[in-house]
Amino acid sequence: MFHRHSTIHLTLAAAAFVLTGASHAQTAPAKAAPIKVGLMLPYTGTYANLGNMIENGFKLYVQEQGGKLAGQEIQYFKVDDESDPSKATDNVNKLIKRDQVDVVIGTVHSGVALAMARAAKESNKLLIIPNAGADAITGPICSKTVFRSSFSNWQPAYAMGQLAAKKGYKKAITVTWNYAAGNESVKGFAEGFEKGGGKIMQSMNIAFPNVEFQALLTQIASQKPDVVYSFFAGGGAVKFVKDYAATGMNKTIPLVGPGFLTDGTLEAQGAAAQGMITTLHYADNLNIARDKAFRLNFAKTYKTNADVYAVQGYDAAQMLTAGLKAANGDIRKLEQVVTGIEKAEIDSPRGKFKLSASHNPVHDIYIRQVKGNLNEFQGVAIKQLADPGRGCKM
Ligand code: PHB
Repeated sequence: MFHRHSTIHLTLAAAAFVLTGASHAQTAPAKAAPIKVGLMLPYTGTYANLGNMIENGFKLYVQEQGGKLAGQEIQYFKVDDESDPSKATDNVNKLIKRDQVDVVIGTVHSGVALAMARAAKESNKLLIIPNAGADAITGPICSKTVFRSSFSNWQPAYAMGQLAAKKGYKKAITVTWNYAAGNESVKGFAEGFEKGGGKIMQSMNIAFPNVEFQALLTQIASQKPDVVYSFFAGGGAVKFVKDYAATGMNKTIPLVGPGFLTDGTLEAQGAAAQGMITTLHYADNLNIARDKAFRLNFAKTYKTNADVYAVQGYDAAQMLTAGLKAANGDIRKLEQVVTGIEKAEIDSPRGKFKLSASHNPVHDIYIRQVKGNLNEFQGVAIKQLADPGRGCKM
């Protein structure tokens, strides 16, 4: 028996060799090279915590898939972008040109992301943005290989503008950091607020990432608006919300904003943030089974609660997976990868979403209110809000 079997094996092997005319090395199944994932995120500065949450969210999804995406091994390359636009082009080229990554995941800061989007477009590189909302990225400079798993700056801002008008506020002051995200957020708020009959009394700003807010707060107090709208995030949001409450104005002039003002920040803000109303595509107690499972696994793995940034990182990994699956795991088949992402329905913790024609999530914008350490779901501000994608031609 043994002898006969080995003879058959030998014969088959010989036949295979003759048929293919190939050497042993070539007939053995080729081991695919790992997919090179470049993470370009802020690991220092006011947005450092946001960068870490995004990376953790991304890696959680990979871990849930057994360490592979669509059957492919993953190899990581990392760059700290420091939220510094002046270093952004050099930094992204460390990943694209030096490390020759297959896909770039990043970043948080709109000014940095604008440079990344231009570099990705020039080199036809796949880029998935897990936060930065710069409107132009899914507007005038949109491109086939650039996607967002997050939001446009316009989306939560416009929703808050409409909500503030509906609440009966007539006069608003806006205050933000003077860069793309802050300015676009204020613009989106003004659009929604003015449509609903509101008026912007004054728009104030301060250079990013400064946190010397006293002069601005004194001015707000003297102008007595009905409401203050503000975009800050990360360490800056912690400081602004605390400084605002310290003046006592939070008792008479509500401070509102996109949810970044109170997301991932509540432990540090404590009493200062209680009761605040914000709008965002995520909340801490959504009644969505997918979200509950995600939050549980996130908390178990990282010993901290998930936030919107973790969700956006997780969903970036889901989008990449959808693209890979459409290309049978071959990241070099870029057209198939892109089409796969364009067609995907992402089963996000925020709720299922699809992408608009300009590659930005179309999702519900929730109304949230701070209670304890949670941004509690209060209702939907606008259902299935799509960024208008103004100026995008692909
Ligand atoms: C941005 O720069 O686009 C940005 C940064 C932090 C946020 C949201 C948007 O939380």
